[in-house]
Amino acid sequence: DGSLDTKRVVPFSVVKLAAETTALPPQFLKSEGERPTVAYNDHSSKIPLISLKGIDVKSERERIVAEIARACEEWGIFQIVDHAVPTDLMNGTMDNNSSFFELPQEEKLKYATKPGGFPAAFGYATGSHLAGDNVLDWREFMLHTSLPRSVYKSEYSFWPEKPEEYRETLIEYSEKTDLLVTSLLGLISESLGLPTDYIKNLVGGEKTEQKILFNYYPPCPQPDLTLGHRSHTDFGTITLLQQTDVGGLQAFKPETDRWVTVEPIRGAFVVNLGDQLQILSNGKYRSVKHQAVVNSNRTRSSIVTFANPSPMSHMGPIPELLNDTNPAKYTNYIFKDYLRLFRSKISGYE
Ligand code: SIN
Ligand code: FE2
Repeated sequence: DGSLDTKRVVPFSVVKLAAETTALPPQFLKSEGERPTVAYNDHSSKIPLISLKGIDVKSERERIVAEIARACEEWGIFQIVDHAVPTDLMNGTMDNNSSFFELPQEEKLKYATKPGGFPAAFGYATGSHLAGDNVLDWREFMLHTSLPRSVYKSEYSFWPEKPEEYRETLIEYSEKTDLLVTSLLGLISESLGLPTDYIKNLVGGEKTEQKILFNYYPPCPQPDLTLGHRSHTDFGTITLLQQTDVGGLQAFKPETDRWVTVEPIRGAFVVNLGDQLQILSNGKYRSVKHQAVVNSNRTRSSIVTFANPSPMSHMGPIPELLNDTNPAKYTNYIFKDYLRLFRSKISGYE
């Protein structure tokens, strides 16, 4: 309802002074074990890069499905190029992201909302997505709940009105990224030996939820002591992430016990699997642990599109994948209960 929750919204003037200050304000200081171990620009080309070119041509599709299977199994994160989301739309949405966060603080705070539970519009906040948090992240963000349109259309009128094309562009971005998600879920279904529309139908079909998150990470005086976004896995089905040429997204590879910085690639989407795909695949595919690190030179921006099951979806390992040698590793549940049952801090957003 637009009113301010002071516990949640930290006065960000602290961070705005960053360029003139040399020390990290203490509320951002992470414990030693949480601090970055790999720099924002120490990119790795190890994370799979997959071209979707020829997705509708049988032989090419087989190649793509095989590459996706390997990436989901080994990493739980990969990048895609030659997808169908227009570059102009991606650039326009990123421009709106920057224009919004460059507005005066008072203007942005008009969009701050109370934590409304799950699922709900979230709005603008800084520092943390968890109520009453003590150690903050070096981040401003703006969350939109965009799909299904039939449920959330009324919330579109609370989205920022400046710049003028903000809403219109975001609606188009929402539609195009939703199509891409459907197409990826099709490839992932096939990679598990299932019919193309299997997972999309299982997670709610047209009732699938979508949220779009704009992140903004200003330059930080001591980036080695904090994070832009703390380590976590996404709780939903699958996530698309668009970044500029300033890197900072890192994925954790348990086999090597190391963080790996994702290389920024123009026009690409980073795709990462959420908890639900790990569970649906009975642990064959992984929900990757990831975080965002910051730097002292340049502002970093990202746009994250989350696809979550509809609240009433019946979740659990897909029965067709189970047998005597592969018994269920997870229980069955209704998606709306997932956060309450299996994650300690309910945030409605990650
Ligand atoms: C996220 O995990 O939601 C954000 C990470 C990023 O900004 O790269
Ligand atoms: Fe995430």
